[in-house]
Amino acid sequence: MSIIFHEKTKVFHLQNDSISYIMMVLPNGQMGHLYFGKRIHDREGFENLLETAPRPMSSCTFEGDKYFSLEHVKQELPSCGTGDYRSPAVEVKQENGSRISDFQYHSYRVESGKPKLPGLPATYTKDKGEAETLVLNLYDSVTGLWAELFYTIFAQGGILARSIRYCNKGSQPVQLERAMSLCLDLPDCDYDWVQLSGAWARERHVKERRLAMGVQSIGSMRGNSSHEHNPFLILKRPLASEQQGEAIGFSFVYSGNFLMQAEVDAHENARVLVGIHPDTFAWYLEPEESFQTPEALMVYTDSGLNDMSQTFHRLFQKRLARGYWRDRVRPILINNWEATYFNFTEDKLVQIAEKAKECGVELFVLDDGWFGARNNDFAGLGDWRANTERLPQGIAGLAERISQLGMKFGLWFEPEMVNKDSDLYRSHPDWILEVPKRANTHGRNQYVLDFSRKEVVDCIFEMMAEILRKAKVSYIKWDMNRSITECFSKSFGSERQGEIFHRYILGVYDLYERLTSEFPEVLFESCASGGGRFDPGILYYAPQGWASDNSDAVERMKIQYGTSMCYPISSIGSHVSVTPNHQVYRSTPLHTRANVAYFGTFGYELDLNKLTGEEIEEVKTQIAFMKEYRHLLQFGRFYRLKSPFEGNEMAWMAVSEDRKTAVVGWYRMLNVVNDRFTRVKLQGLDKDFCYEISQDGSRHYGDELMNLGLVTSDATAGQTPEDEIPCTDFESRLYILKAVEV
Ligand code: DGJ
Repeated sequence: MSIIFHEKTKVFHLQNDSISYIMMVLPNGQMGHLYFGKRIHDREGFENLLETAPRPMSSCTFEGDKYFSLEHVKQELPSCGTGDYRSPAVEVKQENGSRISDFQYHSYRVESGKPKLPGLPATYTKDKGEAETLVLNLYDSVTGLWAELFYTIFAQGGILARSIRYCNKGSQPVQLERAMSLCLDLPDCDYDWVQLSGAWARERHVKERRLAMGVQSIGSMRGNSSHEHNPFLILKRPLASEQQGEAIGFSFVYSGNFLMQAEVDAHENARVLVGIHPDTFAWYLEPEESFQTPEALMVYTDSGLNDMSQTFHRLFQKRLARGYWRDRVRPILINNWEATYFNFTEDKLVQIAEKAKECGVELFVLDDGWFGARNNDFAGLGDWRANTERLPQGIAGLAERISQLGMKFGLWFEPEMVNKDSDLYRSHPDWILEVPKRANTHGRNQYVLDFSRKEVVDCIFEMMAEILRKAKVSYIKWDMNRSITECFSKSFGSERQGEIFHRYILGVYDLYERLTSEFPEVLFESCASGGGRFDPGILYYAPQGWASDNSDAVERMKIQYGTSMCYPISSIGSHVSVTPNHQVYRSTPLHTRANVAYFGTFGYELDLNKLTGEEIEEVKTQIAFMKEYRHLLQFGRFYRLKSPFEGNEMAWMAVSEDRKTAVVGWYRMLNVVNDRFTRVKLQGLDKDFCYEISQDGSRHYGDELMNLGLVTSDATAGQTPEDEIPCTDFESRLYILKAVEV
């Protein structure tokens, strides 16, 4: 890894074994972009990549020169109004109403490691040698606004982390109306655009289309990163697949409003912008004030999407997630939500826990309904004290009973919300986000607390900490069940109302930081009506997230498959629930429900007392299996083999670091009568190892399994031999592969 500066040509070259990123100071003094892709040799003179031509109708920078036009030049921090008609990365509104800026290169510095982003989640380094950071100092002389552009290149993998810090060193206030974290100008548009999109209960489906001329974008203006679009984007070459080909993944380490956009201009250049959504953002900067953008990540690969995903997985597991749980396998839990909803007593909960303990479950999680007057979703949010009618001994008492069973205890909170029917609202009706004199919109009968205000965050922290200090709580599920509307804070002036969405998220991060600091061994699982805030920002505080409220195994295949494009298996909250399933009323075999949930954190969301004796024996076997293989499943190398978006079958696998063990999951949606013979080509094995396959004890070399494939034929449907279990819809199988001496 190195950061090279060619003084004569003013070219910067960041490189490691995988990638090169090349920029230069342009003839007009601004920063130009030259290359991002597979590592290339360094040399003096990359300035030949500067593309200039005397094109008619172009707006030109220098008098008497028709060649240099910002309309065509690739840039690092493009602004608007001076000849570049593409979307800008920065817009600064000034006292006189102008939005023109001209950020001139001033100087640079190189830091070993990676500086922290104050108040924001970001990837980090442990040892200085893991990464180097180039900081470019740019300066707009009219406003006195400085921009520090941060580029961190990691020693390993094709990763580049970027952010920008603005500081007003002028004498007048300015308003940042747009402050994107990343601009990448690509020299062609021969890409497929892949996004993870959906809605509540069908989050992060893989959607793909050809990049086309004009602007295409995904984003959120809901205050949370959203069920609808994940802050993740892939541009892949049309022929690239899971196994081979070029792709660039973009991920935004942020949990609020975001925009990811690609604009293909008339000359087929593609400009990618990633950052806070400018439509709901403005930041007022008094002299000497500064603003730090969140971090945006780019991962380049020339080895296919699985390679790109594995780079994100390792980065997120090792250098985004933090603390006690970062490297630990996740406890197998049981959550009472789908078992009881709001209808429970302490004894009922203990009965559920007892049966779970008998099966080998390690953690009992009490979901919504334990506090205040919370008998339904009309009341109680904000009153984080146990409802002693339901829990006579409070949370401490229940936690003690659970602990005596030999299990850990976990608890649900929804810290950012309040019901009007609550003591908190009655005492502080002015603490919610709302616009004076305007009607306020509710979601699930609840209102959003103004987390831009420190006193609000302080109060919620104290209520939560009080419980955690007194009761044996080792896990928190942090929920968020509505998006934000009427985003107005009564404690800020009119010039700062554009800041409230971002200040809100900073308040959320602050609460997370305070709780995780005081209670470092508590495992946090994030949730937002399922997967409405499943993003890298939250992953920094909560190493796992409830991926979706949809717990149906078939629906989960798509959700978890899509999620795995960016997020590690150890972060994907996944449970076995009852059939018929509560979201889609589908009945799937118990083994298929587990076979899907294994590729995640794993747990149960049902009352095990209602299962038959035979089913309980199966559950015991499932839990024993997960305990044995969870390290491999959650922290091994994960490969997608067959997409559920493309056919009737899905397959994926996890391989141990030493490649001696692998678990393959194979799934078929609908049964097929008299089907063809099928194979799945495996990946990530050692070609020279001989593997024994659990299903039938057969032995095969790695190269056979990866090139010829694992035989998955099941052509018996309609004619099942008497001694075999008939195959059904929603069938699945696990294959465990172990390297053996031959
Ligand atoms: C939405 C979550 O996603 C569910 O798992 C559950 O916790 C409910 N909220 C409780 O209100």
